[in-house]
Amino acid sequence: MDLKKTINLSWDDFDELRDPRPDANGFDAVVERAISRRGFLGGALAFGSASAVFGAGVMGSATSARAQAATFAFEPIGISTDFDIHVPKGYQWKPLVRLGDPLFSEAKDAYSDETGIAIEMSDKVFGENTDGMETFVVDDHVLLAINSEYVNPEINLPAASEGIPQTAEEVQLLKNLQGVTVLEIAEQGEGWAVVVDSPFNRRITHDTQMTMDGPAAGSDLVKTSLDPEGMSPKGTMNNCGSGKTLWGTYLTCEENFNGYFGTTGEYDVTEGHTRYGLGGEARYAYEKYDARFDLSKEPNEPNRHGWVTEINPADPNSVPVKHTALGRFKHENAAMTQTADGRVVVYMGDDERGEFLYRYVSNGTWSEGQPHDGLLSDGTLYVAKFNDDMTGEWLALTPETTGMSIEEMLVFARMAGSKVGATTMDRPEWVAVNPLKVEAYCALTNNKNRGVSANEGGDEQPVGGPNPRETNNYGQIVRWRPMNEDHGADGFAWDLYVMAGNPEVYNNAYGGSENITAGNMFNSPDGMAFSSDGMLWIQTDGDDSNEGEFAGQGNNQMLVGNPETGEIARFLTAPNGAEVTGLTWTPDGKTAFVGIQHPGGSWPDGAGKPRSSVIAVWREDGAMFG
Ligand code: FEO
Ligand code: CA
Ligand code: CA
Repeated sequence: MDLKKTINLSWDDFDELRDPRPDANGFDAVVERAISRRGFLGGALAFGSASAVFGAGVMGSATSARAQAATFAFEPIGISTDFDIHVPKGYQWKPLVRLGDPLFSEAKDAYSDETGIAIEMSDKVFGENTDGMETFVVDDHVLLAINSEYVNPEINLPAASEGIPQTAEEVQLLKNLQGVTVLEIAEQGEGWAVVVDSPFNRRITHDTQMTMDGPAAGSDLVKTSLDPEGMSPKGTMNNCGSGKTLWGTYLTCEENFNGYFGTTGEYDVTEGHTRYGLGGEARYAYEKYDARFDLSKEPNEPNRHGWVTEINPADPNSVPVKHTALGRFKHENAAMTQTADGRVVVYMGDDERGEFLYRYVSNGTWSEGQPHDGLLSDGTLYVAKFNDDMTGEWLALTPETTGMSIEEMLVFARMAGSKVGATTMDRPEWVAVNPLKVEAYCALTNNKNRGVSANEGGDEQPVGGPNPRETNNYGQIVRWRPMNEDHGADGFAWDLYVMAGNPEVYNNAYGGSENITAGNMFNSPDGMAFSSDGMLWIQTDGDDSNEGEFAGQGNNQMLVGNPETGEIARFLTAPNGAEVTGLTWTPDGKTAFVGIQHPGGSWPDGAGKPRSSVIAVWREDGAMFG
């Protein structure tokens, strides 16, 4: 693969390039199945029968959903197509921290628009492409832990490098600008700002020393020549969404780790490599300068990535822990809640076309003030199976159900999920748990291969259930309610909270569900979080061309949905080119922090290169946000 052709691709398109859609894909069978489902979702019948898959909230309140979002305390905004942020009347925003901003005073001049970030200061500044984040209060200090998912080499490397690192130092620069940042913030004269030189400030990069726990830690599958015990991996990478434990630590989720691994020679491509998109092509040429990323030398190194990693933001010297019990896949985020009897539940999506939705349930229980040892290393991993009759079940992954050893089952969780017949989903992104009700939501961002081809493991992707549209370019949000109002129950009922679409272009299922209007439409829901008042905030990462089937949808955006009525209102629009991802609040709930990843233009400085940033958004009258 020509690296020069891949540097500007999204991670999703990068994977597609490696594994293009097959020319022959059993098309006849697919069409036949789609036609046989016409009564479920097709043509004029679409909303007559498709209403079955929408909850009473959505379908039953079409009138209120179309009534200008009356339950929200702000006036919804229109779309934008420019290179700026827009928020409702009565709200203000400003950048909190930008790519290259100093965490320590010695790095105060590290960022230069002309020459980039000084390499020796690159682990003392805020990283690039902000993503998931969470707020912590430690004594009287307010801390944020923030992911930096990936880098844009053409922004950070000298122009002569043409977007590909040419030296070990340039690789080091890219490694340092990704990972996780812990930083302290405080309210100063002009609102919330980073506390430079706070002892809590910390960068965690692709080289930071970590440890592993759970059944796959120390197994042969995770041993390398640098770590023959298989217990001491280095680095966390492609840190996408986030989670917060009940005991106040940060969960960072390793997503498209495959794109960092290349090869300088021949090596045996295994089924496991293929299922996880490892083909020997890398995006950043790490393998040329660091043998750890060379599959011909360290074939097990990628097995040490793709985990949920726990970081204690209160202790800047703490060693992050990769939790193998939660399974290895392209983790989007980790949404923690509890069963009725106090066991810990973590819901997790695997963001790839036709991959699965997972649930982890601990064996031990937890309550405030209790120790939490072992809660993320001793438990059971499940995958979701959705039935067309709007029921579903969690299928346990065990050596008995999968025929795999426990180590294999966790390292190759995708293959384990295939063995038990999990439902192939339309790219599961963030999961959010309603704080006021026993239910959870997962954003299924889009899936152009739905009804077209199988996933990487050969599992079919039929149209149906919570993935009801062939060639799904808009996405939907599935919601499930566990049986007996217990997140520990293995059965659940599901519906679609919203099916995104464009009612101006289509008058069928691609026009979206009843709670989508010309005034609130969007595509590709991705980030999600509940505010404490039980409102669901939805962030998008989709097509912002504002053309064709996306006409009238404008730039990526953040909306808020009322789970009870189905109403959805647009709150914020991003600069063109950006996705909106990551959302957390100050402890008083009056300021929201919103991540703006890969902006275009010269945002936010108005001149020079674009800088991904976390922004603060607040109400001018000082009232609660939202
Ligand atoms: Fe990093 Fe699936 O988004
Ligand atoms: Ca995402
Ligand atoms: Ca996405």
